[in-house]
Amino acid sequence: MCGIMGYIGNQEAWGIVVGGLRRLEYRGYDSAGVVTVSGKALRLARSVGHLRALEDANPEGLPGNIGIGHTSWATHGGVTEANCHPHLDSKSRIAIVHNGIIDNVEALRAELVAKGTQFRSETDTEVLAELIGRGVEAGLSLRDSVVAALKRIEGTAGIVAVDRLDPERLVAARIGSPVVVGLGEGACWVASDALALRPYTDRMIVLDDSEIAELTPNSIKTVDLEQRSREKRVEKILHQPEDADIGQFAHFMLKEIHEQPVALDRTLRGRLDASIGNARLGGFQTQEQRLFDIRRVVFFACGTSLYSAQVGAYLMSRYARMPATAEDAAELSVQNPIVDRQTLYVAISQSGETADTLVALREIRSRGGLIAGITNVVGSSLSRETDFGMYVHAGPEISVCSTKAFTAQALGTELLALRFARMRDLSANDGRLWVEALERLPQQVRLMLEHASACRELAERFCNARFTMFVGRGPNVAVAGEGALKLKEIAYLPAEGLSGAGMKHGPLALIEPGSPVWALVPPDETRERMIGNLRELKARGAFIMAVAQSDDSEVAQIADHMVPLPPHHPAVSPILNVIPLQLYAYYVALAKGYDIDKPRNLAKSVTVT
Ligand code: M6R
Repeated sequence: MCGIMGYIGNQEAWGIVVGGLRRLEYRGYDSAGVVTVSGKALRLARSVGHLRALEDANPEGLPGNIGIGHTSWATHGGVTEANCHPHLDSKSRIAIVHNGIIDNVEALRAELVAKGTQFRSETDTEVLAELIGRGVEAGLSLRDSVVAALKRIEGTAGIVAVDRLDPERLVAARIGSPVVVGLGEGACWVASDALALRPYTDRMIVLDDSEIAELTPNSIKTVDLEQRSREKRVEKILHQPEDADIGQFAHFMLKEIHEQPVALDRTLRGRLDASIGNARLGGFQTQEQRLFDIRRVVFFACGTSLYSAQVGAYLMSRYARMPATAEDAAELSVQNPIVDRQTLYVAISQSGETADTLVALREIRSRGGLIAGITNVVGSSLSRETDFGMYVHAGPEISVCSTKAFTAQALGTELLALRFARMRDLSANDGRLWVEALERLPQQVRLMLEHASACRELAERFCNARFTMFVGRGPNVAVAGEGALKLKEIAYLPAEGLSGAGMKHGPLALIEPGSPVWALVPPDETRERMIGNLRELKARGAFIMAVAQSDDSEVAQIADHMVPLPPHHPAVSPILNVIPLQLYAYYVALAKGYDIDKPRNLAKSVTVT
């Protein structure tokens, strides 16, 4: 949701902290702030709006070799400077930055107000700062005070704290919200995401839940909430420094759309066995015996990841003949889910940090369910809390609007479906055909990207449409939903994605002459019915943009514009179909002049429920 960056070493902290925040800004961009310590004084700069506003207001930066910063997406109170991080205690002795939500904040606030604290903001973070501040004022070390304060809170907290009277150390802690520490010579960095550390170091430790790290330029001590020492493994940061660079592209979204052939290639690498027509999934092997007894698969996720889950559920039922559903993780967690030993639960999340997905995961785990994870972020909470899983290796996704993660995750579910299908009744021959199709997929996505300029022309024509409809059938109902989500999210246009069947039960009333409709009509068992739907739409005057196989003359005749699909295996059609929809949404948002990578009101990773 928000980004945290901290530094302690011999260099000026400002540039390093702001540099790290820039790489994390996609996680929240309502406000930004930095505190440094110089001459035993806290130097604070905060600003509403993008990080750029903070830099413009402080062209000289702030002095000091120790600093912490935050870029946020507001959860408590309005977006005002008073509510920006970092927050100080009432004596202005300590400063903290915080990701997460403190659930018992009102009780703690009332207690502190009764003791005389006058709060300057509406935030839960200031309450935590005051608890820590009172601890150090009472003589505790910063670390002991952080531990004592964390024991009093209910909720989540990834924090970094600094004490102006002890400017030799930073204290970082993880209660639910990710925190990583970068290791260097005479310096340490701390961040909420390894992406921020990569320009400075390729070595890190990842704090586990309920761990606290005390950092000096030359040492790290990690303890748990009982102050027992914890041994930490040094891990390699896999990102390349340039992974978060925009390169030749105008926006990260466009870059990420075009990265899809490479990303999909990485998702597949080493995972296909053409000789036996099967997928090789490392994590799967560790659970082989239990998986043999699985009789139902429940995917769960949020947003775009939920659409990739729907693709997976369809493929699982269609090809593995395995009952499968895709559930909205937020609803699953409040539904008292039925958990049994013959069900495999599959959590999908690009970030691996979406709170609703993690809450559902923990609920299922607490009941003994077997959980697999599909995620893009190595070391994320999801990857740590599932029984086994698969990294999709799509590379960092910076644009808030998810594109390459969708296709990589959908591909991840394909591999899972193929693996199950081959354990059940898919023949080796049919498995080989599917594997060949997957091998061709990256190149076929490349072909779909060649239609960018046609998508742009359509986007410019319909950028002011009052309503846009996306229709599909089978696995492409999910793709229709994903296409509509893209348009709503970055172009702020009303849109609906639905099945061609569902359309007739109400939404067709929205169609008037000239209404733009995207129709997904691949040459599979859904084609005939989709053609019926096209005729219904045409009769109401819709302008139909169809994605269909290049030689489909019947679709070409009905549609006003056709984006051709190359000949392909029906199992991969969702991944091909979504490409023009991503491009269309991008170019609509571009035509409207919106801030494409940072759409209003949104953040990359929703870490609150
Ligand atoms: O990180 P996750 O995949 O768990 O995120 C889930 C959703 O918040 C996310 O997919 C969201 O819907 C995207 N911004 C859509 O583009």
